Amino acid sequence: MTARSAPVAAGDLLTDEARRHYRENGFVRIPQVLSASEVERFRAASEEVLARFGPEVWGAGEDEVQVHFVAQAWLKHEALRDLALHPAITGIAKRLAAGPLRLYSTDILLKSGRKKLNTLPTIVHDDETGLPLHGIDRTLTAWVALVDVPAESGCLTYLPGSHLRDDAERQIHMTSFAEYRPIADIWPDYDWHPRVTVPLRAGDVAFHHCRTVHMAGANLTDNPRMGHGIVYMDDGATYRPGTEDAHISHMAPGDPLDNEKFPLL
Ligand code: SIN
Ligand code: NI
Repeated sequence: MTARSAPVAAGDLLTDEARRHYRENGFVRIPQVLSASEVERFRAASEEVLARFGPEVWGAGEDEVQVHFVAQAWLKHEALRDLALHPAITGIAKRLAAGPLRLYSTDILLKSGRKKLNTLPTIVHDDETGLPLHGIDRTLTAWVALVDVPAESGCLTYLPGSHLRDDAERQIHMTSFAEYRPIADIWPDYDWHPRVTVPLRAGDVAFHHCRTVHMAGANLTDNPRMGHGIVYMDDGATYRPGTEDAHISHMAPGDPLDNEKFPLL
């Protein structure tokens, strides 16, 4: 595992070129946002939470695991709260989004190594479809690598520019997973669109817009692929009943997510 030894401010990490890349492509990799000691702390906390709470399965069942995840991880461990609100990550997110953001959620995202489990690739999707939110034009995900994540261990692959496709080419929302439609069915260009696979070093963070189509490979290595997906939403986003919304389903449709559970960055 390699990572820098000292943290630096968001302004030092986010170049104009990186911002342009994000605007045009809908994703960008920012190297070495976290120091080696931060990575170590957040990885240890993630392992603790996985052991204490037990992960849920993203996939058809324990025989068909794409990812093991723990939702709302930032509410389950002090260190993971620090990760979700890390000034360098939130600073970059705000500048990429070019507008005010709130923390929506964080997930531990584990693909176990082959010694333990044969994982499947992560399904092709964009995050907008599955977010139980309305008003999310600048919403983005920070995928934080807590170990080295080469292509073989299932890093993310993005379709550059896919965040800019027309409304008619997106599944804007679903209220249950049964409604999920394969991307190729709604976006005819999908099969012919270039793809960019983005390996990450421990401590790197890749940001993607909620409309950017992405996927991940199976973990073909013996080492676990441990990351975090942190969703930062538009300040002003409202509840729209959908998938994975048990934590907010007490709210009424259209209610703003503007309380301390969704801190303003
Ligand atoms: C994954 O970690 O494999 C998927 C994460 C995402 O879809 O954002
Ligand atoms: Ni996603």
